Amino acid sequence: MPGPISTRRHGDVLIVLSNNPPVNALSTAVRQGLVDAIAEAEADGDVRAVVIACEGQTFFAGADISEFGKPPQQPWLPTVVEAIENCSKPVVAAIHGTALGGGLEIALGCHYRVADASAKLGTPEVKLGLLPGAGGTQRLPRVAGVRKALEMVTSGTPIGARDGFACGLVDRLVEGDLIPHAVAYAEEVRDVRPLPKSSERQGKIEECDPALFDDFRKANAKRFRGFDAPEANIKAVQIACSTPYSEGVVEERKLFMELMTGAQSAAQRHLFFAERKAGRIDRLPENTAPRAIARVGVIGAGTMGGGIAMNFLSAGIPVTIVEMGQESLDRGTGIMRRNYEASAAKGKLTADQVETAMDYLQPTLDFAALADCDLVIEAVYENMDVKKEVFERVDKIAKPGAILASNTSYLDLNEIAAVTSRPADVVGLHFFSPANIMKLIEVVRGDATAPDVLLTAMTLGKRIRKVPVVAGVCHGFIGNRMLRQRQNEATRLLLEGASPEQIDRVHVDFGMPMGPFQMQDLAGVDIGWHRDPSRVETIRDQLCAMERRGQKTGAGFYDYDDKRRPTPSPLVQQVIEDFSARNGVQRREITDQEIVERTLYTMVNEGAKILEEGIAQRASDIDVVWVYGYGWPVYRGGPMFWADSEGLAKIVDGLRRQEERLKPEFSFSNLLLDMAAKGDSFTR
Ligand code: 3HC
Repeated sequence: MPGPISTRRHGDVLIVLSNNPPVNALSTAVRQGLVDAIAEAEADGDVRAVVIACEGQTFFAGADISEFGKPPQQPWLPTVVEAIENCSKPVVAAIHGTALGGGLEIALGCHYRVADASAKLGTPEVKLGLLPGAGGTQRLPRVAGVRKALEMVTSGTPIGARDGFACGLVDRLVEGDLIPHAVAYAEEVRDVRPLPKSSERQGKIEECDPALFDDFRKANAKRFRGFDAPEANIKAVQIACSTPYSEGVVEERKLFMELMTGAQSAAQRHLFFAERKAGRIDRLPENTAPRAIARVGVIGAGTMGGGIAMNFLSAGIPVTIVEMGQESLDRGTGIMRRNYEASAAKGKLTADQVETAMDYLQPTLDFAALADCDLVIEAVYENMDVKKEVFERVDKIAKPGAILASNTSYLDLNEIAAVTSRPADVVGLHFFSPANIMKLIEVVRGDATAPDVLLTAMTLGKRIRKVPVVAGVCHGFIGNRMLRQRQNEATRLLLEGASPEQIDRVHVDFGMPMGPFQMQDLAGVDIGWHRDPSRVETIRDQLCAMERRGQKTGAGFYDYDDKRRPTPSPLVQQVIEDFSARNGVQRREITDQEIVERTLYTMVNEGAKILEEGIAQRASDIDVVWVYGYGWPVYRGGPMFWADSEGLAKIVDGLRRQEERLKPEFSFSNLLLDMAAKGDSFTR
């Protein structure tokens, strides 16, 4: 078997080509091949320059992540990069696609970088809880400048080749055939000495203001909260500016190994693969092909419908959006336009792109206009009778083969599908609010949903740059079913003696973007409320009756000032205490640990039931749902990965401790008990 690295000659230039699909990850064989190719260039007196390039969709997209956590194999990546940089003949990187992570480090080891104008260069390691550990944190600031390096290593977001050219990371931009251009460049520079080694450049780090680092930390504190890797990345770049390269790489190595062996990176690497696995449908019959989707219909131009429509418009897919009244239609499309314009104001879109997206929109009051849509998504009020009525109606209008989707977040999709003449063409597409921003879609597979319909939904989800996850039918599917456990227990804890602030603090300290009551205030305390102010059975009923409906009314579980800053409310505290008395609940001191066990361990138990019942295809899908739908801290890997990290026996012990208090709703998942007893784990 030939290895992934081959060499060929063009005149006196040695072209080193990698062919390691799909993304030319720097596996052991690739690393060895590169070292051998450099040795070949050194040994051959006729070779006067080297070009390193890749076949397939991309330049090296990084170290091979699947090798992480296993015993490292020689040659290590830093050795490969050193070998390239120390080559006595000029080495030119020919970059197309994405030069990411270790791939960019290889490019930085090269003496010159020629890039296709559409290429992207980046250091996504931080997203895996890591830093560019093959000299990247030391070379990048020397070549691209300190501020640029800081931005790149802490955000993980790749920059375009033009931006790379502007900051000095790319030496020449080319359009058209890359390798001939790179060879021509190598011929131009073959006699230039000394060779420009990235590790020896000083100018950009010498001119750096030392105050930059603390300013950068302060400016980004919120974004980095809870994560270890951003600080390690900043520290490594700071070291580059104050320490000779030879010492800097040693420090970088130490920081890298600390991260690599830490819990956060393990969680983030788990999510990398979990996200990709989530896209796969188990037991999909062979040869299933997705249906073509050229136009999408959306019923309802409210917040949800408008947000859903924007995803398709942004991807260049025409949308027909239907509303009942002109005023609602105008309001809805006006909000969509304003959302686009806000993105343009932030520089995320051009004015032309805003117009192009809006041009794809066909707003109408005429239901019959849905007749030429290949997919119709209902985003109306969350009520079974209303949904059924809409489905009956659209079933009569939609063309044969068109897919009918519901955006329901709780309701029984099978019951909705049953009112149509085509239950096999019905699927759930549960978008999360705000639908134009949140990445998750739960793709709900009804009992009758046809395999090609499910595949179409998953494929389309990826096409609009979302993370689609398959879920079965049950109340609340994966995410909301687990959320309900948390919310129920949080409310009971209020009655037993905890305050909204304490419960929210425990969740925020855990790493959630907000706690259960902050979330209710943001979403609206009145979501799902029966709307009868005289019927007061719960704390929530009381708050709604008092017009404390959340941030939108300036008060909910908290009081809000005109900048929407919350303060604890003595009034709410009184309401809670009155309810405790009314329900005969003895208030007591609640520990933070009890909050964790009752709100988070119960979610794990529910997740295990969801797995047991086949509602989720795999445990890692549940993690993806919670990370992308609810802001579960990425560095904890999702609820099931977190449970594994805690140890399932510990989760079971905690639940047993709380079992009496959790009754009558609670029952153990047999799967959880079983796995805990056997010492198994969900995700490893
Ligand atoms: N290692 C191993 N496998 C990888 C990989 C990597 N670095 N990058 C991608 N893959 C695999 C994916 O798991 C997927 O496998 P599958 O088909 O079996 O699910 C396949 O390649 C295709 O990946 P995508 O589905 O993500 O393909 P896209 O075309 O959508 O995206 C990409 C391509 C932009 C390169 C994207 O895959 C990506 O961002 N990859 C990760 C890049 C990265 O994080 N690199 C840094 C690695 S850490 C490092 O280099 C440490 C060093 O500093 C020491």
